[in-house]
Amino acid sequence: MKDDNHYYWPHKDLLDTDCLGEADLRHLLHLASGFQDINLRPVKKVPTLKGRTVILFFAENSTRTKTSFDVAAKRLSADTFSLGKAGSSLNKGESLKDTGLTLQAMHPDVIVIRHSSSGAARYLSENLSCSIVNGGDGWHAHPTQALLDCYSLNQAWNGNFKGKTLLVLGDIAHSRVARSNIHLLRMLGVNVRLCAPRTLLPAGVSSWPASVHSSLPEAIDDVDAVICLRLQLERQQAGLLPDLAEYARRYCLTEEHLRLADPDVRILHPGPMNRGLEISDAVADDANCLVLKQVEAGVAVRMAVLYLLATRSEQGDS
Ligand code: CP
Repeated sequence: MKDDNHYYWPHKDLLDTDCLGEADLRHLLHLASGFQDINLRPVKKVPTLKGRTVILFFAENSTRTKTSFDVAAKRLSADTFSLGKAGSSLNKGESLKDTGLTLQAMHPDVIVIRHSSSGAARYLSENLSCSIVNGGDGWHAHPTQALLDCYSLNQAWNGNFKGKTLLVLGDIAHSRVARSNIHLLRMLGVNVRLCAPRTLLPAGVSSWPASVHSSLPEAIDDVDAVICLRLQLERQQAGLLPDLAEYARRYCLTEEHLRLADPDVRILHPGPMNRGLEISDAVADDANCLVLKQVEAGVAVRMAVLYLLATRSEQGDS
């Protein structure tokens, strides 16, 4: 940051939230709020990134992240191109590096990558000169999900984060969302609690800046928000949970649990939800559940991210 009035974005890539300072975060949220106004107009398109190119390289499944990056880029008039694992030469054995270099040879401004391997986005960033956005890598990080969660809470709490208490509930061991969120929330002064069965807590969790609980009624006491995480059934082959019904009995977020929280508690979930497993139907459909607000915020936040990265080299000019 140069000074308060002449902020410029210093980052070539967005690989995780730990590269962001509070000034970066507040600037990004402010920009996203402006882009959200555009998303509510009858004509939702501005020429801001006309002539720029964004490649969506999604080597793992996605509904929200991929669609919202595509919508975000198009609302800013950028051209977008999509590459998935199925139908690409990754399936013929082409390496991640060669795939990245091939995409870069088409002169994109930004590549958004989702990949099942932790570190895939960083690997591309070290080998390519265009901007890289991590759209979720393995169990490691999902920075734009954390940013849109922050944006949603910023709206719900009118910008008052300090002293609030938030519970992260569920499959924390496999969650890239939890890791990316905690850095931002702590930076804004939020107290973080974690709750999960012991087998779904990550190694080294005792060094995280959060209190750790195994009892949901204890963990949810008086909290201001809950981020409920998806139980990642596709990653449960290791037998970490012998009985899904028992998991639901102890950890599925219900209205009964919400009565122990602050009366105005907000519920977030990154999606997709397993209704009846980690979140009850009644909670998922509750007026204080921000799931669809999060999706809406995702477009505005990703517009801000694409704008900042694609125009970075011009932001110092004035
Ligand atoms: N929250 C999230 O990353 O959802 P998708 O997997 O649908 O992109």
